Amino acid sequence: DKGNHRHFMEKEIYEQPEVISHALSNYVDFHSHTVKPVDAAIDFKNLRGLAISACGTAYLAGLVGKYWFERYARLPVEIDVASEFRYREMPLSKDQAALFISQSGETADTLACLRYCHDEGLKIGAIVNVKESTIAREADAVFPILAGPEIGVASTKAFTCQLAVLASLAIAAGKARGTISPDEERQLVKSLAEMPRIMSLVLNAIQPQVETLARDLSKYKDVLYLGRGTSYPLAMEGALKLKEISYIHAEGYAAGELKHGPIALIDENMPVIVIAPHDRFFDKTVSNMQEVAARGGRIIFITDEKGAAASKLETMATIVLPNVAEIIAPMVFSLPIQLLAYHTAVFMGTDVDQPRNLAKSVTVE
Ligand code: F6R
Repeated sequence: DKGNHRHFMEKEIYEQPEVISHALSNYVDFHSHTVKPVDAAIDFKNLRGLAISACGTAYLAGLVGKYWFERYARLPVEIDVASEFRYREMPLSKDQAALFISQSGETADTLACLRYCHDEGLKIGAIVNVKESTIAREADAVFPILAGPEIGVASTKAFTCQLAVLASLAIAAGKARGTISPDEERQLVKSLAEMPRIMSLVLNAIQPQVETLARDLSKYKDVLYLGRGTSYPLAMEGALKLKEISYIHAEGYAAGELKHGPIALIDENMPVIVIAPHDRFFDKTVSNMQEVAARGGRIIFITDEKGAAASKLETMATIVLPNVAEIIAPMVFSLPIQLLAYHTAVFMGTDVDQPRNLAKSVTVE
């Protein structure tokens, strides 16, 4: 049932504040602002490394997770798409654990990768939406994302709930390893707890602007997304979402890679969507944005209030989100990215919930 939404995708985008809160409540205590203990099968305290694997959007969630595990838990993360991970003959050891992320829990490559790591003697964690799935059944520890059924082929709420679970696990790992203090733990969990309220605010605030912008975006054939730090996987997620439902060609790049190739493409026919909260990387990203502007590129700037105040560049549009804590920025900044792809596809008249050539669950390799 789509309720009063035109598509499941739209419904699922708007469900995010509620399902994120549900997901978080499984991993954090909203009263004491601490993380709940993690399934003992994954011994974060004594791990030497973590291997993460997944496909598509779930892989991009894992990439954000890598930044968090490394930063908050000082835990080295090896990550790759499942279809490559399996064949890389990567040296693995039993003091590493493996983490698989899958909405459906049935993705063939991810499952094959899980079995490979299991045979190598690694403990297996699975971040899944479907708790009765094969991937969940074969894991030593299951971390449900509790997003509820996701019907739209383009993943939205599963992505942000995967992020919420990864953030919680990274904090729990940091706590177990003594790399974050009790005070930092409280601050981080407090920030996570604010997410549902901020996400609702943002969804309501940006909708009209994003819809207008989508009308413009639907006229282009190519779009480039740029981001740094955790905004880099978000740039790739933005590009993936746009291409899969609107069929507009889009690429996501690390902002710093712009001058190593893609800058050759910049002209007025390829909008550049820059994702840049006012974080540690902001000034660097703005200087990449200047390089785009200097070559006549049109910029769609997705930033926060501080970022908007700090940049004087002329843009095609600037979407201004509230200033939020760094740990929740990837979830909050997912919202304009999802809505922009959604409304662009709606303008183009594509089958948003069932895009051509795609299946919700990819059970063949
Ligand atoms: C993109 C999308 C796909 C899936 C990928 C993995 O919107 O939905 O890229 O993320 O096929 O699927 P799961 O998470 O079910 O393993």
